[in-house]
Amino acid sequence: MDIDATNLGFSSKASRVRSMFAEIAPRYDFLNHALSLNIDKRWRRFVISKVADRLQQPGAVALDLCCGTADLSIELGALAPTFGVDFCHPMLQLGIEKARRAGRAIELVEGDALGVPFADSMFDVVTIAFGLRNLDGFEAGLREIHRLLKPGGRSAVLEFSRPQLPVFRSMFHFYFTRVLPRIGTAVSGSSFAYQYLPESVQLFPDQKQLAVLMQAVGFSEVRYYNLFGGVVSLHLGEK
Ligand SMILES: C[S@@+](CC[C@H](N)C(=O)[O-])C[C@H]1O[C@@H](n2cnc3c(N)ncnc32)[C@H](O)[C@@H]1O
Repeated sequence: MDIDATNLGFSSKASRVRSMFAEIAPRYDFLNHALSLNIDKRWRRFVISKVADRLQQPGAVALDLCCGTADLSIELGALAPTFGVDFCHPMLQLGIEKARRAGRAIELVEGDALGVPFADSMFDVVTIAFGLRNLDGFEAGLREIHRLLKPGGRSAVLEFSRPQLPVFRSMFHFYFTRVLPRIGTAVSGSSFAYQYLPESVQLFPDQKQLAVLMQAVGFSEVRYYNLFGGVVSLHLGEK
């Protein structure tokens, strides 16, 4: 049996996810933009528009969990000092290089989103984009976000969700389960990653269930926005 020593200490889901992102890292950005027809960039900008008021306050600090190649961290970094955390070294390396090119003073840290190496109540805004679904414990991830926020701070969870209109839902389901895995596999060379993507979305709470989960871990004023007909949702909550 082939054991990757760098994965020791992580659960089996976490180890699989970490290895998967390490494998697809070089093609991750290209596939993200191509498979979403660049709409992913608009989704991240929407996140920024919903947290900007908090980050424009003097002394505000942001944390971007599961930051990957740092697209969202770099945008946050335009408004306030920003930290990004991810446990996949090759994704982070790409993010560090992009942040350097963008001239953004963001700090990217290798670490587990379920045990972030920062003290309680440090951040005004904590974001997680397309990361919560990948954690081995959605509720544990939300609890960690809540722990890290200052009282009065805001969390922003951007994630795949459920298209609302039945006809669009069927069309999107066909694209997501039949077309996307073929293109993703051909371009990235990883068949697992683009099978895992639609499967993990199926297992993730829908818009209402995620809102309930956020309330259950202590967030208040939980609200959400459906983006692209509900393919993606942005959930916000205050501590
Ligand atoms: C789909 S990518 C999203 C990256 C980025 N946020 C974006 O919007 O493009 C998911 C990222 O979550 C990271 N990740 C998954 N589980 C994690 C964990 N337990 N701790 C830290 N990072 C994790 C992966 O390494 C990967 O970089």
